[in-house]
Amino acid sequence: MEVIALREKIPCLDLKGQHQQIKKEVFEAFERVYEETAFSGGPFVEEFERNFSSFCGTGYAVGVNNGTSALHLALLALGIGTGDEVIVPANTFIATAWGVTYTGAIPVFVDCTPDTWQIDAAKIEEKITSRTKAIIGVHLYGQPFDVVALKSICRKFNLYLLEDAAQAQGAKFKETPVGGFGEMACFSFYPGKNLGACGEAGGITTGNEAYYKHLLSLRNHGSRVRYYHDEVGYNMRMGGLEAASLNVKLKYLPGWNSRRREIAERYQSEVKNKHLQMQHQPEWAESVYHLFVVTTEDRDGLLKYLNHNNIYPGLHYPVPCHLQRAYAHLQYREGDCPNAEYLASHCLSLPMYAELSDEEVSYVISVLNSYEHG
Ligand SMILES: Cc1ncc(COP(=O)(O)O)c(C=O)c1O
Repeated sequence: MEVIALREKIPCLDLKGQHQQIKKEVFEAFERVYEETAFSGGPFVEEFERNFSSFCGTGYAVGVNNGTSALHLALLALGIGTGDEVIVPANTFIATAWGVTYTGAIPVFVDCTPDTWQIDAAKIEEKITSRTKAIIGVHLYGQPFDVVALKSICRKFNLYLLEDAAQAQGAKFKETPVGGFGEMACFSFYPGKNLGACGEAGGITTGNEAYYKHLLSLRNHGSRVRYYHDEVGYNMRMGGLEAASLNVKLKYLPGWNSRRREIAERYQSEVKNKHLQMQHQPEWAESVYHLFVVTTEDRDGLLKYLNHNNIYPGLHYPVPCHLQRAYAHLQYREGDCPNAEYLASHCLSLPMYAELSDEEVSYVISVLNSYEHG
């Protein structure tokens, strides 16, 4: 194989390159927060909320301390709680389900399709009961879910739609940015996300003023007027330093997302190995490729081969939600969500971040093309 200048190991994600590029600007922003001692909530968070709601084209955005809290608070704002059920994809990061569980409601897991790997709309109706209150669609790996299909089920059964857009900042469904398709949309700004804070952070977008005002109260001890508490609330405010870093990074996000798309297009067109399958992308979906997941029959064999060649993919996710031990009490069995189970044992996430060089992408492609199924 051709010898080229590469980083020593090519991991699934490397945050260093991005943060070196913007270090000066971020540190200047940190300095402003420091001078104003605006560490919790405050003007930098409000500035980010304005910037992010306009980026998503929604009326409002509420900054919180992480994406899991965003889901928890959005479900509370919908009035969901004990005795309710919420439809959740079996193939997602577990936090989608945590949000439901924290409210006292029960997550009801639905299998994914065998090609888009997103919730299978055709399997939702059979899971709806008189207790079902909402569906959470996940724009998984950065690719929008079938918004039209889920919205029509919600209309038919009078359910709320929540978007879990934790992995999809800037993704578009039919040319419209995600974040405004349901009652609310929940984002994670965990450092590894396409838009990640220097720290933990999350956010909720909505076009509904009543939800917006309720969320402001819920994240701040259930208080609209200081030291007066109208309901049981939470301390889930976004920090000022995190918000300041997000204000800097949001400007760069469109460029970073288009570089990810460029890398994805190269994987899609230049990887010729018949042993690999990629996520099917319907024509209405514009993904931001938070992750580039592939499946292969002998996943462990491919993983070993890649590691041997200094490429270190990720596994998203090795256990589907319905089979996690935390949810054993819900009594799902192997075979309940066969497509999600197949994915869990056959998936692997290729290196994907804007700072991968063209040479590194070529190298990953050539290693993949030289892999022979064992
Ligand atoms: C699909 C999905 N939902 C929710 C979350 C939770 O976000 P956070 O890690 O910021 O709590 C994440 C990210 O970790 C995620 O990937």
